[in-house]
Amino acid sequence: MDLLTINSLSLMGLAVLGLFLRYLTTILEFIRLIKWSSTVPGPSIGELMENAKKGRKCCQAPLLVYKFLRICHILHTKAFSFWQRTNPFFKYTEPGRERDACLRILHDETNRVIKLRRKMLEDAKIQKMADTENLLDNIGKKKRFAFLDMLLISQMEGVDLTDREIREEVDTFMFEGHDTTSSAIGFAIYLLSQHPEVQQEAYEECMILEGNEKENMPYLEAVIKETLRLYPSVPTYARYITEDLQVGKLTLPKGSNISIMTYLTQRDERYFPEPEKFDPQRFLQKDKEQHPFSFVAFSAGPRNCIGQKFAMLELKCSLSYLLRNFEFLPVKDFKPNALPELVTKSGNGIKIRIKSRGN
Ligand code: HEM
Repeated sequence: MDLLTINSLSLMGLAVLGLFLRYLTTILEFIRLIKWSSTVPGPSIGELMENAKKGRKCCQAPLLVYKFLRICHILHTKAFSFWQRTNPFFKYTEPGRERDACLRILHDETNRVIKLRRKMLEDAKIQKMADTENLLDNIGKKKRFAFLDMLLISQMEGVDLTDREIREEVDTFMFEGHDTTSSAIGFAIYLLSQHPEVQQEAYEECMILEGNEKENMPYLEAVIKETLRLYPSVPTYARYITEDLQVGKLTLPKGSNISIMTYLTQRDERYFPEPEKFDPQRFLQKDKEQHPFSFVAFSAGPRNCIGQKFAMLELKCSLSYLLRNFEFLPVKDFKPNALPELVTKSGNGIKIRIKSRGN
């Protein structure tokens, strides 16, 4: 081999090494994707509980959940970092690239769901609302359509809705719809573990009303509201002021943005005496009128949470199932460190001890 060949080979080697190092994070990410993709779409809550009952180890967090957590963290950090917020080249920084990679995966999932539903409607030959009139569900009742079906049918009927607009709606209710309720479940079982007398009362109600979670469950509902008062899943939301607004002695000028910090407003002593105390009875006092805007975990007004009823039902079903099967015991000196990310998270996890009720 002459000197020229050796030099060319070392140059090529260096170039390959450079390329490898340049794309190392992408390669690692790819390996991680393959590892996680086997768990998509992840186990159902029933499967998780069966595993927990049998003492089996729970599986890894599915890819989507992981990506969702990462993007929440990135957006939250960006919102509070002066440098990241003002950096016009944020897109090209490491967190910027990770944000875009997460978005691609999350959008792929919403697009997949939309495609699937569109195909189901096509296969059922549904092109307009009138085609759904005589359809019955599997228990013989008039079939009710999901929000996404309605959006797709409206589009087929000619309503001016682009695919992107439909995807944005799906993004909102898919992601607004799962992380909020899981945060509430986590904080609820933590609070129940710390308050055995509340847990016992909720447990008794769940046993009596098993299978009737759609009906009133006054005590469990009060437990959920009190959990959302102390740990509102959406810790803050914002409004743009379109005209001067008088709030007490303050005038909020037209054109400003305001944030409503539910985590703080729901700890206002005027409406919630001993605000740090977990006391579901607050929501059961019929003789005492509550200020209509003192509890606003689901927001209020025309842009409040459209999933509120569904969320309550989901929370009642999950907590009722959990309480009927397990007893939650406290972990000494543990207190969650609530972080107001896009959805309230506990920075130090949720520590509880679980005892099977042996059902
Ligand atoms: C514990 C559970 C939940 C809490 C605490 C919660 C809270 C909220 C809050 C505070 C808002 C309003 C934000 C604002 O005013 O700007 C909101 C909006 C929204 N929520 Fe929920 N949510 C929950 C569960 C759900 C679920 C299960 C779904 C859907 C399946 C859902 C779908 C939505 C949607 C689509 C919006 C946007 C409404 C609009 O912009 O008009 N939420 N939620």
